[in-house]
Parts: sequence; structure tokens; C-alpha cells
Amino acid sequence: MSAVHVPSETERIANRKKAKPGRTVRFRIKRCAGHGKPASWEDFDVVTEPGMNVISALQRIAANPVTSEGSRTTPVVWDSGCLEEVCGACTMVINGRVRQSCSCLVDEYAPEAGDVITLEPMSKFPVVRDLWVDRQRLFHSLKRAKAWVPIDGTYAAGSGPKESPDRQGTRYALSECMSCGCCLEACPQFTIEDDDAKWDESFIGAHAISQARLFNLHDTGKRLESDRLEALASKGGVSDCGNAQNCVKVCPKHIPLTESIAAMGRAVTIHRVKKFFTSKK
Ligand code: SF4
Ligand code: SF4
Ligand code: FES
Repeated sequence: MSAVHVPSETERIANRKKAKPGRTVRFRIKRCAGHGKPASWEDFDVVTEPGMNVISALQRIAANPVTSEGSRTTPVVWDSGCLEEVCGACTMVINGRVRQSCSCLVDEYAPEAGDVITLEPMSKFPVVRDLWVDRQRLFHSLKRAKAWVPIDGTYAAGSGPKESPDRQGTRYALSECMSCGCCLEACPQFTIEDDDAKWDESFIGAHAISQARLFNLHDTGKRLESDRLEALASKGGVSDCGNAQNCVKVCPKHIPLTESIAAMGRAVTIHRVKKFFTSKK
């Protein structure tokens, strides 16, 4: 049985070509009944079909939860929504690297009969069960950063201000964030925090910093700019980023996270200087 590893893009293309339909692939899955409970591994053998993704394999396992040793067990639990890499719900650690399971093709990762794919839940969020984690803290960070446009209801307010194509391009790239949590899983500064009373002082995360930038670049969203900068200037804000740049390497949407962190770091410095001088008056 070959050792698990994360194939490069070139390997994935080659694997897709050589993968034979009907081969059996082994899924080694980390099982856990909930946060703080002991975890264990179970193996399942799945007969593959061309183009099968990891979620389809999990569906096969759920329909017939029998381990490779022939023992009947409970169905494996996971989360998913869109099945097209848009909602972020199916994010898990596959062969040691965080990514979406709906867009992970079995042919690309396990082209030979007997190849192994390991599945684990993200480690920075509490496990609900098996591969399903509770991402509440990720959304709490977005609330801290006031990552929204402050409008209640709809109004006949006329056409909005014109926006340059450059700014549109920048905002479009940032708007692709799907709150998946990959950047948090990879970040050494973002650690699991059981006590939700501490969430407001723990590192906010690259996703929230980038979303603060997105909404500060929006003409109406700008109305909350000062609140956002205040949140990023406080404990757990942008200065807690250690600049390891792991986040940008794993973001499935290729969001320029280090650029956002640098931009918001500068904006927070200017905000602090302005605050210092205005408080002197
Ligand atoms: S650059 Fe900052 S946010 Fe990104 S992984 Fe490193 S410490 Fe975390
Ligand atoms: S910034 Fe990228 S990795 Fe982080 S939550 Fe958004 S899409 Fe996921
Ligand atoms: S199910 Fe939505 S990203 Fe995978």
C-alpha cells in the first residue's frame, strides 16, 4: 500500500489519466463522537468510479458502514452544502492538507488499487462528530470585523457612486472568500479556543482581516471603517499576525491574504496616529 501524500498539480493530472475505474481505494478516517472525546481511526474500502469525489466515497461508506476488517460500524458524519466549492462546509484535512472534500477527486489522489486517502476533521474548530466541525468562531470573527454593508431594508437611493475597474478587480478577488476555514487551520496564530468568552481577544484570522479590507473598499461599507480598524487595532487584531504566510498558500480561492494583511496593517497604523492627534485636541 503506498504512503499518503498530497499530489502536486502535475501529479494530479497524470494520476487522473492513469486511474483505472473499478479499483478499490482505502479511506482511513479519523472518528470522534464530539469535542474532547477520544478519537480513533477506521478504514473503509471503496470501489471507485471515474470522476468520483471524496464526498461520493463518503456517501458510499454511509450507505454501507462496514470497515475494511468487515466490522459493521456507525456511518461516518461530515458536513457539506453546495458540492461545488462555494459554501466551504465540507472542508477537512485530506492526506494531511486542508481543503474541500467536494472538489477533491479520488482519481487524483489515489490512482492505484490499494492507495490510501486519509480524512481528518480540521483541528482548529471543535469536532461535532467525525469530520464535521463547528465553525462558529470563524463567523464570530467576521462579526468582530463588522464584515457587512450597513444597510437595513431597501431604499430608492438612486445609482451608487462610480467605481474604478481597478477597485472592482481588487474587491472581486476579496469577495470570493467562502468562509471555509482553510486559512485558520494553517495559521500558527489561530489556535483552538474552548472558552468562547475569549474569542474577542484571540487572533481574528486572515479571512476576517481580508473581509474588513473588502468592506472598507465599498462606498457604503466604508461607513463602518473606523469600527473595523478599531477591532483590528485591538487585542487579537492584525498585529497578532506572525507573517508565516501559511494562510495564502492554502486558500482555495487564491485570495491575496498577505496583501490584505499588509494593507490593513498600514490602515490600522494610520488610524492609530489619527486617533492620537484627534484625542490631543
Ligand atoms: S500570515 Fe498571519 S494570518 Fe497568515 S498564516 Fe501567518 S500568522 Fe496566520
Ligand atoms: S480567505 Fe480563503 S482560506 Fe480563508 S476562509 Fe476565505 S476562502 Fe477560505
Ligand atoms: S460542499 Fe460546499 S464547498 Fe464543498
